[in-house]
Amino acid sequence: MAKLTTEQINDIRSSVDIVDVISKYIPLTQRGKNYFCVCPFHDDHSPSMSVSQEKQIYTCFSCGATGNVFNFVMDYENISFIEAIKKIADISGIPIEVDLKSNKQQVVNQKLYDIYDLSLKFYQNNLNTNEGIGAKEYLLRRNIDEDLIKHFQIGLAIKQRDLLTRLLLKKDFAEDDIIKSGLVIKSEYGLNDIYCNRIMFPLYDLNGRVVGYSGRIYNGNDTSKYINTKETEIFKKGEILYNYHRAKDECRTTGQVIIVEGFMDVIRMYSIGIKNVVAMMGTAVTKNQAVLIKRMAPEVILLFDGDNAGAKATMACATELEKISVIPKVVRLEDNLDPDEYILKYGKDKFVSKLNHSINVMDFKLDYLRKTKNLNNSIDASKYVNEVLEHLNSIDDDVLREITLTKLSKDSSLDVEFLRSKLNAVTKNEKLREAKKTTKPKVSKYEKAEVYLLYYMLKSSDVIKLCMRQLSSLPTKSYRDLERLIVTYYKEYGYINEADFMSYLIDKDEYYMNTLKQIQRLDLKENFTLDEIQDYIRVILEYNIESEHQRLLKLLQETDDQGKRREIGQKMVELKILRGE
Ligand code: UTP
Ligand code: MN
Repeated sequence: MAKLTTEQINDIRSSVDIVDVISKYIPLTQRGKNYFCVCPFHDDHSPSMSVSQEKQIYTCFSCGATGNVFNFVMDYENISFIEAIKKIADISGIPIEVDLKSNKQQVVNQKLYDIYDLSLKFYQNNLNTNEGIGAKEYLLRRNIDEDLIKHFQIGLAIKQRDLLTRLLLKKDFAEDDIIKSGLVIKSEYGLNDIYCNRIMFPLYDLNGRVVGYSGRIYNGNDTSKYINTKETEIFKKGEILYNYHRAKDECRTTGQVIIVEGFMDVIRMYSIGIKNVVAMMGTAVTKNQAVLIKRMAPEVILLFDGDNAGAKATMACATELEKISVIPKVVRLEDNLDPDEYILKYGKDKFVSKLNHSINVMDFKLDYLRKTKNLNNSIDASKYVNEVLEHLNSIDDDVLREITLTKLSKDSSLDVEFLRSKLNAVTKNEKLREAKKTTKPKVSKYEKAEVYLLYYMLKSSDVIKLCMRQLSSLPTKSYRDLERLIVTYYKEYGYINEADFMSYLIDKDEYYMNTLKQIQRLDLKENFTLDEIQDYIRVILEYNIESEHQRLLKLLQETDDQGKRREIGQKMVELKILRGE
């Protein structure tokens, strides 16, 4: 396909209103000229993100996230620039033909993705050969039928230690890449497959590309039930959720995401038509994953295994989610069953009814914390109260907090007022910390001038022209680099606006966008006069002269050469004239 031109990209961008697009994802409230919402890109507690209809950009004054409609969709949905363009074009009904594979990031690790594509076909095929009969029988015995095998792309690594290695070498992959993939290991005996005699469950990144495997024993008695691929450049365990790419649309339409421990649970739930499910894969939830979950749907249900480990994992996951203002619901299964086993034992209807009777997270926590204690013992009782209070402090829901306080009061025979007073002390401190975090950084007079100039250059070609004429460069490197890029953009396209310039930055080094972020979050005033611009330019010129003076002074101190000293002296005199002395 032909590459999209900047003009086409800009046309697609301006074919939608950023306010309409963002409001499809998060509720916006209008205040004055702008719209506000809770920022989806950090653990926001109050609406810190502003969306400007006029400028067609969003900015979070707390974390600094900023961008146009493409940036928003890219970051929210974890998709590439080209996918975001396609998405927006689809909304407007603009026909474009794009090659979704021409994603920059993908090209970097293309060889690794290719290795996984090939290995997937290889493993899938093995399952249908004679050597796969035992594995197929195992799967069918577990009620994983052909449809599920196909849908979840389940495969098999057969008993021979070097089949995949040989295939990859035959297809001319470099030894380096083969080892980097995490599927092959090099030892004194040469290259060998990591996986052998295991059923292979592919693991996917957020875009649905296969980037790893979990291999399960099915007939041997190896000590580890599952072996997971090691982390690679394309496989970061803490950044993925099993089934994310398949579940995300379903979660958006149902408004609910269900979190389970294992991918077997996802597969089983899919088989009875429940598709808004992702799995943690037996590890503790990371902050990154919590944020992903928050973005998937407003209602989060934790459905971990019914055993003690599952209860413990529920506690940990809930606490991580509460940090980013997500208050999950909890479902507990009896008899230590996991969702897979529960469905097989009791059937779909009983399971669905279980799902529909979730409990609130604080009831679960009260239960969990009480279980190991004897409340008639005052040491235990006080421990219990303190633990509950600590958990209550991180709950961002006044009503739930009050309800729980009443319950805690009953459990402990302590007065609700007393309990509440214990709570407030901590909450107040936290609020203070929050406030401190969001105060704006102080900037010097010179930096202020630089920042203002850059900010207004993005709005007006008059400012760019003035700066081009009067300023050689800005003192601070990051600002200077951004300024050069703005000038380049202006020279090439003959106009400028923030939203289009942000599209232009998407393909550039992140460094420029980071500088722009710093400037955006300062929340500078919108209007300016050319007199003000002149003042800022004067401040920079003054700074440039002063630093040149300092530089010459240093040179003068460092040299004994009379000729050079005279030369420097001459330059200093010229500087004095420039300074108007
Ligand atoms: P479980 O032990 O609950 O697995 O671990 P499961 O889903 O019930 O699997 P089956 O029914 O025994 O086949 C939950 C998750 O923890 C990870 C896997 O990702 C699994 O899905 N895990 C478990 C490992 O990585 N290694 C292990 O040895 C065990
Ligand atoms: Mn299981």
